[in-house]
Amino acid sequence: MSELIEVDYGPLSNLIGVWYGDKGLDIAPEPDGTEENPYYETITFSEGGSLKNAQSQELAVLHYRRIVTRKSDDGVFHDETGYWLWDAREKVIIHSLSIPRAVSLLAGAHFTNVEDKEGNLTIEVSAAADKGDWQIIQSPFMMQNAKTRTYHQKITVGNGKMSYMETTMLDIYGREFEHTDKNELKLQR
Ligand code: HEM
Repeated sequence: MSELIEVDYGPLSNLIGVWYGDKGLDIAPEPDGTEENPYYETITFSEGGSLKNAQSQELAVLHYRRIVTRKSDDGVFHDETGYWLWDAREKVIIHSLSIPRAVSLLAGAHFTNVEDKEGNLTIEVSAAADKGDWQIIQSPFMMQNAKTRTYHQKITVGNGKMSYMETTMLDIYGREFEHTDKNELKLQR
């Protein structure tokens, strides 16, 4: 990796830092219905410098860690880590994520957004199991019992504020379930 100081993180530069938000709402599956979990979370995005793939593709790298805690019992109920990557030449954003349910994915998209009048950027990425360029990997158990079919994430970030919505479509308990999470966060430092 090169010196951190030289790296152009493009739209991802807005993410760098420690974020906190306590307006989270998780909609999750239950065998006999739906569970709604208000939550708070901390997301830390750290600079990872840049690297070259096959001596040609240059990627700027952020590493992140996300810890999500249920308000009702102050227990951590979602723990996620991965990378955000920026390919400046192709204008592509890639988000790799891994969760300890034995599910990982690589979501991506061309970045087309320009800043709105208030200086906010919108970043959107998607992944799908079994089709397209951006894919989902899951254990045999999860494939059988709680398959993640698609993932879509939309983040709006700017002026020290971030909001997101993410939708994870699951095949679970014999039905299709729209598992969603949203929150609003503020940059702490
Ligand atoms: C803030 C983010 C998230 C929170 C708070 C959250 C929380 C939850 C909760 C509470 C359940 C139900 C667990 C149970 O009843 O035992 C669940 C299920 C699940 N979640 Fe998430 N989730 C989040 C994001 C994600 C993401 C990003 C993915 C994958 C891309 C994912 C994949 C799954 C899967 C596959 C299940 C089914 C397993 C099961 O219900 O036992 N979740 N999640």
